[in-house]
Amino acid sequence: SFPERVRIVEVGPRDGLQNEPIQVPVATRVALIEALAAAGLTRIEAGSFVSPKWVPQMAGTEEVLASLRRVPGVDYPVLVPNLQGLDRALAAGVTEIAVFGAASEAFSRRNINCSIAESLDRFAPVVERALAAGMRVRGYVSCVLGCPYEGTVAPAAVAGVAARLAAMGCYEISLGDTIGVGTPLQARHLVERVAQDVPVARLALHFHDTYGQALANTLACLETGVAVIDAAVAGLGGCPYAKGAAGNLATEDLVYMLHGMGIATGVDLDRLCAAGDMIAATLGRPSGSRVAKARQGL
Ligand code: HMG
Ligand code: MG
Repeated sequence: SFPERVRIVEVGPRDGLQNEPIQVPVATRVALIEALAAAGLTRIEAGSFVSPKWVPQMAGTEEVLASLRRVPGVDYPVLVPNLQGLDRALAAGVTEIAVFGAASEAFSRRNINCSIAESLDRFAPVVERALAAGMRVRGYVSCVLGCPYEGTVAPAAVAGVAARLAAMGCYEISLGDTIGVGTPLQARHLVERVAQDVPVARLALHFHDTYGQALANTLACLETGVAVIDAAVAGLGGCPYAKGAAGNLATEDLVYMLHGMGIATGVDLDRLCAAGDMIAATLGRPSGSRVAKARQGL
């Protein structure tokens, strides 16, 4: 059966804007995050404390967090790849971080410049110190349904990395189809396999929509008991180190489907669409959300 309620993790201001050709100004990033909170989203990834040499788009995350009007009850997590990133998060008063690993060696090297094993060794002290400081820590596993460099990725490899992150103390593991190549039955089988090692209540889905499968994959997985879904407003998203990766599942499309199925999200679709239309207009291109386009009569 389907969950009664789904918690949405909005990743547009991070996954979306990290992949834009331009560095989106701090004021625009803040306006987007505030509009998303006003729409009822309660977990909004606000940026990344990664190397600005690697991802210049996420420079200025300190400024974003400092000028944000924080809404009580809303979390504003950020990505952190190492202790240097954690120090920046602590200084910025962040209460939730996410470490991000991969199930593919080649992608791990391209994205964070180390092997999977090295990344886990690097994350362990980050998670330990973050937990000691009272933060919550989420873990990502990328390339769960395929890798741009290695092709097929074994579900057992995904489960192994997910279990290590959970054992370190990550309260939730988000399974990333980084390049959006998965299909519904494959996605469901993956979740069932990972759930043998990490309780399904601690899993989240993070599907990119490159091949137009993200909503179908999400639906196929919802009956396994997963009830946390990552999505990006206006279908923004992509990873600079994953060749050909396109946007995330559009939050508008996810909310429309869930509400149509009688599943609560706490999100106001009108206000969400307004936030998406605002950022699409600012970026100068049509929204990547089918629901947003339909409502604009396009
Ligand atoms: P490296 O070059 O091996 O690291 O990169 P390093 O320690 O040698 O540092 C290199 C330089 O970066 C140094 O500066 C450091 O100080 C600086 P220099 O001495 O040359 O002047 N540096 C930092 N500066 C600020 N904050 C930091 C930091 N760390 C180092 N935290 C590193 C290794 C991990 C740093 C790099 O590879 C990196 O930043 N990678 C991040 C890549 C990234 O952000 N990718 C996108 C996010 S992941 C994603 O999108 C997937 C996801 O959405 C899920 C999915 O879809 O599957 C989450
Ligand atoms: Mg992503």
